[in-house]
Amino acid sequence: MEKVATGIPGLDALMDSGIPKGFNVVIMGRPGTGKTIFGLQYLYNGALKGEGGLYITVDANSNLVREQGQTFGWDIKKLEDEKKLCILDIPLNRQLRFNLFKLVENKIKEYGVKRIVFDSLSSFMFNINQFNMQLPNIDNLTTISKEEIAYLEEDIGVRSDSVPKAVQRLKPDPQHYDIISVKRIVYLLFKEFSSLGTTNLVITSASSKNPDATVDGVSEFVSDGVIKLEAVDLGGGPARVVKIVKLRKIKNSMEANNFEITDKGIVVT
Ligand SMILES: Nc1ncnc2c1ncn2[C@@H]1O[C@H](COP(=O)(O)OP(=O)(O)OP(=O)(O)O)[C@@H](O)[C@H]1O
Ligand SMILES: [Mg+2]
Repeated sequence: MEKVATGIPGLDALMDSGIPKGFNVVIMGRPGTGKTIFGLQYLYNGALKGEGGLYITVDANSNLVREQGQTFGWDIKKLEDEKKLCILDIPLNRQLRFNLFKLVENKIKEYGVKRIVFDSLSSFMFNINQFNMQLPNIDNLTTISKEEIAYLEEDIGVRSDSVPKAVQRLKPDPQHYDIISVKRIVYLLFKEFSSLGTTNLVITSASSKNPDATVDGVSEFVSDGVIKLEAVDLGGGPARVVKIVKLRKIKNSMEANNFEITDKGIVVT
């Protein structure tokens, strides 16, 4: 199995040398836990090795990303000029009508993109109305695909032969309507990312109610892997912790590993 090394010191050894090529891995954590730095470091290390990187930022503008890189001595601008790294800024302060994945496919060709970071799915979902994406039409759910049926079965726990009925039953209840829509959009997004052939990190927030779950409650299930970043205090003062919660197909360390954000970026200790 071909692996994509993150290049983050101490991390790849926890995943038997890296992320399997083509995987979608969720990077989840509460605010300030280091998700953005993690993503940027992954792309920076790839670009240095000649693997093109695409950083899609919903949260921060591209300048902020460059400046964050600079604090670790990473010359993001230089890599952009050399067509090894692309920052795709998705501004949220105006109504946008564009097809995100068309844009992404163009960047993949232009920059030879092998690694993508999406920062962040949670912010994207809060602003979904702004983007020209096919929103799920609940009425169409009565003619859903095999994969969608599998998703409903696994995730929502309805039997496939009762799916159309179950969906109809969900329809009148606005609470269920919202949940099924969000889950379905997230599911479709992951499918789109999977089809690109790149190795992707999808950053998202952990829920405030349940820090083991993402805010959308589904990306941890549909992704190929989940890496969780945390800030903990076990009495010995505050510490940062990274856990490889899930990684399909390979052996991974489930342990909590301490990490630091040093002047060279993230280092797992
Ligand atoms: N140059 C630096 N040196 C050391 N630590 C830093 C440096 N820059 C940022 N940090 C630390 O990293 C934290 C922010 O990391 P990052 O932006 O990756 O978090 P995040 O999980 O993406 O947060 P959010 O959910 O708000 O986007 C800061 O709170 C700070 O503690
Ligand atoms: Mg961030």
